[in-house]
Amino acid sequence: MRTIIEPFRIKSVEPIRMTTVDERRGLLKAAAWNLFGIASDDVMIDLLTDSGTSAMSAAQWGAVMRGDESYAGSPSFYRFERAVKNLMPFKHVIPTHQGRAAEAILFSIVGGAGHVIPSNTHFDTTRGNIEASGATAVDLVIAEAHDHQSLHPFKGNIDLARLAALLERSSAQIPLVMMTVTNNAGGGQPVSLANLRAAADLAHSYGKPFFIDGCRFAENAWFIKCREAGQDGRAVTDIVRDMFALADGMTMSAKKDAFANIGGWLAVNDDTLAAAARNRLILTEGFPTYGGLAGRDLDAIAVGLEEIVDEQYLRYRVRTNEYIGDKLLALGVPIVQPVGGHAVFVDARRLLPHIPPLQYPGQALAVSLYELGGIRSCEIGTVMFGQQPDGTERAAEMDLVRLAMPRRVYTQSHADYVVEVFEEIVASRAQTRGLRIVSQPPRLRHFTARFERLD
Ligand code: F0G
Repeated sequence: MRTIIEPFRIKSVEPIRMTTVDERRGLLKAAAWNLFGIASDDVMIDLLTDSGTSAMSAAQWGAVMRGDESYAGSPSFYRFERAVKNLMPFKHVIPTHQGRAAEAILFSIVGGAGHVIPSNTHFDTTRGNIEASGATAVDLVIAEAHDHQSLHPFKGNIDLARLAALLERSSAQIPLVMMTVTNNAGGGQPVSLANLRAAADLAHSYGKPFFIDGCRFAENAWFIKCREAGQDGRAVTDIVRDMFALADGMTMSAKKDAFANIGGWLAVNDDTLAAAARNRLILTEGFPTYGGLAGRDLDAIAVGLEEIVDEQYLRYRVRTNEYIGDKLLALGVPIVQPVGGHAVFVDARRLLPHIPPLQYPGQALAVSLYELGGIRSCEIGTVMFGQQPDGTERAAEMDLVRLAMPRRVYTQSHADYVVEVFEEIVASRAQTRGLRIVSQPPRLRHFTARFERLD
């Protein structure tokens, strides 16, 4: 059959509150054209993030009821630990309340002034935690990642030549080599098993541990199965195990590929590093058998990890975004290709060429998507990255808008609706106006900046 159906039925639903264009214009004005200021009840289709927004399964809700809230040694922890080790055979698994908490603990130990941490592309919280420790985060993704039209199957790959050169030049400053799978900041693009293996080998040849930010590991493994030579006949679980067998540790946000609404972990093989991490954990998160989570959250993650590697699910998951991507391309909407695992990234600068970067074409598109269709998306461009430490601003490398798809939440008619809203945006694009910032905080301005629409 050609139609890839949602591999689940729905037995518990949440109503969507329908709003009108006029109502949304008023709400936009009240929120100063910043979509982070809109109440989610006023959003019809929320594509702000795929993080923590998954629909949990009946089995996960059942597991929540089994959750044991003992402070120490809860059976929920042992179920969680078993589920993680089944896929990622690390010696020590340390739960945290979400991904960035695992990053904060890791870099409080291995970061620090003078250190350099290479990756394909660090996610912004990873970069933030590295920089907060005084260390430097370096992104070494392959050149094809910057070309939106390049159909390279693994645009998340690290540039091995540049990694080798950095290791040769600065080995003494590098505490570990990291890779993000899939590469969120680069458009949800996957990393090949061959590239992971080569990067791990390089790191190890300099005596450096190799770490994986595994937030979207199952989507990455599915792309390996579909795109990498010699991998198509293999089970996704085997590919996942191969990926993590290369690594000495990982950070994880269970809010992505574990179908949980909260949670994460740090896993390592090294006993000394694990002991230091647990000491830090007790200070900042909690006892090592719950790490900032309730026992019920650990059980939800344990079941989520079994469900996320289901190949029927992964086929449907990746197809959902491709489906929207194909239809947007047919409308002439420029997007980052190939479509990534968790989101479609629209190139707003090319879609709205009459709006210069410093009038924020990405924000203008995100505002229009909400105004015309009640869809919330996220600008990833000059609003997010243009602000400089000295208070000036400059155009970001790209002005993108991310349509991130929550897992198991929206159906095909929701996707068709998103496409239809884009049809209207394309038809009226010449009238779309840019914005100016009327007030902003000194850092991370995208969350709270206030805008005005230009006439
Ligand atoms: N690493 C990657 C690749 C991520 O995408 C995220 C979160 C994190 C780490 C941090 O995890 O949120 O649990 O603390 N990404 C979300 C997003 C916020 O919308 O892409 P966290």
